[in-house]
Amino acid sequence: MASKANVTFPVLLASVVLVVATVVRLRLTPIGREVKRHLGYHEDSYLNFTEIATKYGFDCEEHAITTEDGYILTVFRIRRRDCARYKRPPVILMHGLLQSADSWLDAGPKSGLAYLIAGQCHELWVGNQRGNYYGRRHVRLNPDRDAEFWRFAVHEIGVYDIPATIDYVLKNTGEEKLNYVGFSQGAGTFFIMCSERPGSCDKVNVLVGLAPAARQTHTRSAPYRALATGINKFEGLLTSMGFHELFAKGAIEQEFLSFLCKFRATSEALCGVFLTIIDAFHPGSVSGESLRVLYGHFPAGTSTRNMARYGQSMQSDKFQKFDYGREMNLEMYGAERPPSYNLSAVTVPFVALYGRNDHLADSKDVHWLVQQLPNVLEAAEVADPLWNHLDVTYSQFNRRLIFPKLNQYLSKFSD
Ligand SMILES: *[C@@H]1O[C@H](CO)[C@@H](O)[C@H](O)[C@H]1NC(C)=O
Ligand SMILES: *[C@@H]1O[C@H](CO)[C@@H](O)[C@H](O)[C@H]1NC(C)=O
Repeated sequence: MASKANVTFPVLLASVVLVVATVVRLRLTPIGREVKRHLGYHEDSYLNFTEIATKYGFDCEEHAITTEDGYILTVFRIRRRDCARYKRPPVILMHGLLQSADSWLDAGPKSGLAYLIAGQCHELWVGNQRGNYYGRRHVRLNPDRDAEFWRFAVHEIGVYDIPATIDYVLKNTGEEKLNYVGFSQGAGTFFIMCSERPGSCDKVNVLVGLAPAARQTHTRSAPYRALATGINKFEGLLTSMGFHELFAKGAIEQEFLSFLCKFRATSEALCGVFLTIIDAFHPGSVSGESLRVLYGHFPAGTSTRNMARYGQSMQSDKFQKFDYGREMNLEMYGAERPPSYNLSAVTVPFVALYGRNDHLADSKDVHWLVQQLPNVLEAAEVADPLWNHLDVTYSQFNRRLIFPKLNQYLSKFSD
């Protein structure tokens, strides 16, 4: 009788071969703007954050932050033009796995959360995490040549990128505290910061976690599970073959999706279905126009190691550090198993908003998280039983289903 392992091995191997063949390495010289213009791509799919925000009437500035370990991240400051004054304190908005600051614009000026928050005269800073196309620079390392650049996962983002972004915004605005909104990995890495850098989360008045991702024990999406656990299983093989970066912008698969989704005829059918396959079914939630735009910014790239860490997380019931294997764990942590993050250290007032139909960050794991955190103000399920994970950035229903609660807490903690 064939054991389970014998059957899953070829499946895992096949998924990894697929990754290697179509996703990595074959990085095209990104197709130029002029070409895309002629081919009829939606303009917002190839403009950058500043250009899009400016086009819709917002003021936008670009700032470069250097982390303690040398990564250079672009952060965007976006403000509505006609505000008599801006509310204090400033707000940081942080994206999820394989996304970038642009993801917050993809739902368009009526529904994108960056526009909605800035639209209420909050001074908004939209961050980026290492590894995406706005965080692909380093003072010393070259991401195209140095494997060391890609030796990071959520841990390093939480220990370096999130506090660097917070400190930069506080310094620039002369404030002592700010409000923070994190989606998925953008919230998970905030918990890591609080756990690993005591005192750092005291700089934040309120943390709003949109589909916050701590542990992934109950992740329902089968393709995401197969992909992440496959990458974890073969991380050594992949990196020994030189595949340190995955799902980069400009890689074949991203350009292909972007091309396929630019057509009105295919965008709704095919590109909507793609979101359904990786996440969950929510008809009508992401508009046809957003579908033609979002694949210009998604996937935005991360490290093989970060994907592997998600694979580990799906096979564990803990929110814990990277598992290097027994030997290396002993060396790194002085224990055979990786230690858990200290969620008791997340003392900041916390608000969670999550969806029942989220197949990536399951509501069961959000409930678990909420039980671990010491200072929960509210944990609210979005009032739509089909609300899924990626809806948070892409849904045209954001204005009605996410923004009121979000704005309620931002207002409560603003003057
Ligand atoms: C965005 O585009 C503007 C105008 O083309 C350019 O000046 C700016 O450097 C770009 N920003 C980024 C982060 O690529
Ligand atoms: C976790 O954080 C809490 C609150 O900061 C602290 O009292 C406790 O000692 C920490 N636990 C560990 C194991 O570090």
